[in-house]
Amino acid sequence: MIILTAKIVSIGLNRNGGDQQNLSVQAEILTKIRDFFQCKHLLPVGSGTSGLYTCLRAIGVRKKKVILPVLTCPNIVIAVYAAGGIPVVVDVSENDYNISLPSLKRAMDHDVKAVIAVDSFGYPAPIREIKKITAPYQCFVLEDACHAYGGKSGNEKIGTRGDAGVLSFGYSKPVDLLGGGFLLTQSDTLAQRLKQIISQWWFYQVKSKRNEIALNLMMESKYSLFSYLARYFFLLDYNWPLRQIQLLPEKWTMFINHLEKNLKNMSQVHGIISECRGINTFGYDPGVNWLPWRYSFKIPDGTNRMVFEKLAQENKIDFTRLYPPLDRHFKNLVINCDLDHARDLASTVYNLTYSLENDNTAILTEKLSVFSHQWNSMIAKT
Ligand SMILES: Cc1ncc(COP(=O)(O)O)c(C=O)c1O
Repeated sequence: MIILTAKIVSIGLNRNGGDQQNLSVQAEILTKIRDFFQCKHLLPVGSGTSGLYTCLRAIGVRKKKVILPVLTCPNIVIAVYAAGGIPVVVDVSENDYNISLPSLKRAMDHDVKAVIAVDSFGYPAPIREIKKITAPYQCFVLEDACHAYGGKSGNEKIGTRGDAGVLSFGYSKPVDLLGGGFLLTQSDTLAQRLKQIISQWWFYQVKSKRNEIALNLMMESKYSLFSYLARYFFLLDYNWPLRQIQLLPEKWTMFINHLEKNLKNMSQVHGIISECRGINTFGYDPGVNWLPWRYSFKIPDGTNRMVFEKLAQENKIDFTRLYPPLDRHFKNLVINCDLDHARDLASTVYNLTYSLENDNTAILTEKLSVFSHQWNSMIAKT
């Protein structure tokens, strides 16, 4: 039976102030989101980062190792430091940028308290295999689904496959509200602990960790001390800002209404890119009901990369590159394996960007059809 009472959660949401009407709107949307994920406990948090921090505190990672993939968002490392854990980075798989299973196996020992399985760039992490590796150790698996919620892996909703799942509604996420997030868990015990931590006034504790976090950041990194203090002073505040709560029902409904269409369009995007010579696609299976946050592919050849950038610009196709490997931002990371795949992917992968709130994926397929003809004729000449 689903236990969460949306009302309790909405009271949590309402800490910043809000009237009775807001409260019932929130209760309704929280029930909708919880029903979508079919998850017993849904807890609002201020951001994906604060969600990760809260989970790590609930698990108790102080002075314990937390494993994460090296090719991911630096905020995850900040959450680990803030919770007092020791971040250990491992390489990623060349097939989908998710945590590399052989590297994870090598890094596991009895000091590892948690593995953060990031569904990197929307590609579902191999959680079942990760759990098999972590089973002999008393170790939690957290699913960071900040990029990937909306899709499924097999019969399971992305975000619900770990001991706890983290969703972000921050900048450029599937639902972009510039703030807010949720924690998902089926475990009553973990939910109880998470609620306890959320109910404490723990911002002070995070503040006291500020120096430790800052000292571990490279000064030349965009996550350096000054940037951190200026931009992320409230990074770990758990409250949803009121404006974001008000926007949540409309944005969530838009996201859900366009989900089927976007899933279908992404299969088409995959079909078009798969036909482009010199471009390697990743483990995206269009028969599977999941949604990449960015559609990613690899262009191994340097000259072809220049051709791609020029053609993409001419056709107004938006793209980004990957996050650089985390050791670019942090100087004291524990790294006990080669990071060869991560370094290769960081220099050869492109991500197509689109918004999931509207018909942007349809527009993308149209642009890509034109692009693919131009691309294949240009590559044939080289
Ligand atoms: C994979 C991943 N996890 C967590 C976060 C942190 O989410 P938030 O920006 O809501 O703190 C991000 C942010 O970009 C992310 O990309």
